[in-house]
Amino acid sequence: MTAQLIDGKALAETLRASFKDRVETLARQGKHPGLAVILVGENPASQVYVRNKVAACEAVGVHSEKIVYPADVNPAAVLAKIAELNLAPNIHGILVQLPLPRQFDEDIILKAIAAEKDVDGFHAENVGALAQGNPRFIPCTPYGVMKMLEVGKVDLRGREAVVIGRSNIVGKPMALLLLNAGATVTVCHSQTRDLAAHTRRADVLVAAVGKPRFVTADMVKPGAVVIDVGINRLPPEEGGKLCGDVDFTNVREVAAQITPVPGGVGPMTITMLLANTIEAAEREDVA
Ligand code: GUN
Repeated sequence: MTAQLIDGKALAETLRASFKDRVETLARQGKHPGLAVILVGENPASQVYVRNKVAACEAVGVHSEKIVYPADVNPAAVLAKIAELNLAPNIHGILVQLPLPRQFDEDIILKAIAAEKDVDGFHAENVGALAQGNPRFIPCTPYGVMKMLEVGKVDLRGREAVVIGRSNIVGKPMALLLLNAGATVTVCHSQTRDLAAHTRRADVLVAAVGKPRFVTADMVKPGAVVIDVGINRLPPEEGGKLCGDVDFTNVREVAAQITPVPGGVGPMTITMLLANTIEAAEREDVA
């Protein structure tokens, strides 16, 4: 059996087209959703992500502000900027690109963002709301995965879901979302013993490891839904292309549905950031 593809690129385009309508509706009410993106330092991957986030905002008519600091900036300056953005009426979402340089305590920075503008969903208050099954902002990558499972018509109730990776950005919120959707969830990580014994039980397998082709066909239950969150750059001797955490060519012959890399989860992350930002602006109406 060759797995069906869950096309994140196509889904992202459909959703982004619908966002334009929502932005226009807001504009008719005199409201213009705005996102502030803070980038500290010169991490090349972060620079690309931030550039793409700003471009995506522009494409759907969301106002964006990019604020860049040198790697050696005093965290107090960033905190002062966040305090200013928290009060700015034209800014509905604030995002600090991670990782931050060493002098920063990430937790302090994330908690400084007003919870109602925390479109990444990383503030402790928003993490707590998600854990209680009553989310305000859902972290963008796992939110995108849930949308992909929805279009793939994957019923999660009572299914075995296995997440590989326990990061605050992907693994943990992913596990909570699957749990809230009624799946029986196992979270595996670098200290998990006999990883394959867990993954082979999965009806839904989410890989967020950061290692190219880490999940091989023998680790996948026939008929499973496989979601590949990894975006890894292969070394030049292997062609330098992007590659996921899943050995796509071989796993595709075992799984029922699979997400490709590129064109899978990647385009959904920024799409859901737009969704959260627009939602923040829409919610302001109700407040
Ligand atoms: N670094 C890697 N992924 C993310 C993300 O989704 N948001 C932020 N702020 N930083 C990241």
